[in-house]
Amino acid sequence: MQTTLLQTKPLIDINKLNLYYGAFHALKDVSLTIPEKAITAFIGPSGCGKSTLLRTLNRMNDMIPGTRIEGSIAIGGTEIYSNDVDVETLRKKVGMVFQQPNPFPKSIYDNVAYGPRLHGITSKKQLDEIVETSLKSAVLWDEVKDYMKRSALSLSGGQQQRLCIARAIAVNPDVLLMDEATSALDPISTLKIEELAQELKDRYTIVMVTHNMHQAARVSNQTVFFLNGEVVEFSETEKLFSNPTDQRTEDYISGRFG
Ligand SMILES: Nc1ncnc2c1ncn2[C@@H]1O[C@H](COP(=O)(O)OP(=O)(O)OP(=O)(O)O)[C@@H](O)[C@H]1O
Ligand SMILES: [Mg+2]
Repeated sequence: MQTTLLQTKPLIDINKLNLYYGAFHALKDVSLTIPEKAITAFIGPSGCGKSTLLRTLNRMNDMIPGTRIEGSIAIGGTEIYSNDVDVETLRKKVGMVFQQPNPFPKSIYDNVAYGPRLHGITSKKQLDEIVETSLKSAVLWDEVKDYMKRSALSLSGGQQQRLCIARAIAVNPDVLLMDEATSALDPISTLKIEELAQELKDRYTIVMVTHNMHQAARVSNQTVFFLNGEVVEFSETEKLFSNPTDQRTEDYISGRFG
């Protein structure tokens, strides 16, 4: 099985990763090399471990009691599970956007300025600049520029999700993790987020979990298909959907299960 795709430089190197929730073996010997500045999609039936693997990439799994991992994950050559890694710094470098938009109950401005302030930026001029650039990058600026003091909770679901993306990129991450980031959104907002992801991939490495195979096919450069905590196939997206190597991939994408 091919686990390395090298059209761009590798950034994330997952090696023989096993993850246990108590006695339950949720990820089994996962080895993957994820290239930088591209979109990698994780697909597979419910419960196959997509979110679990995504969470290991910024150590969100640290917060789940009873979780144990073996193996290694290096990002940009740094082993993220070594004892001297500062998890806050890691999460600044590896941002995350969730299924339900989760803006803070604060103003639009304060949502985006939150991370930079946390990391010590106090100058109003500098914060203004970061907020504006981040909202522009998230293609939300034009819709909110006159209402920066309005509560983020007054925005529509799709706007809230773009705000969450702006909040994630305001701290200048390398990697953006998206866990079914469009599944709570209407089709037009979904399309906007997909277009946004396409634009952002020139600057960030994006890993997205999606239940929607059409979305993976439309948006991603490479796709990983998981089953029961294992990688079944990792290929260029076009190849995986048109000419899969493994019969189980074929069965899944043709809708025979999942
Ligand atoms: N906190 C937890 N404690 C115990 N088991 C868990 C926990 N989180 C997930 N699991 C189990 O690990 C397996 C993988 O779950 P995960 O959430 O990663 O799947 P998924 O592929 O993201 O599924 P979905 O498509 O439904 O979101 C499932 O069997 C799930 O029940
Ligand atoms: Mg999930």
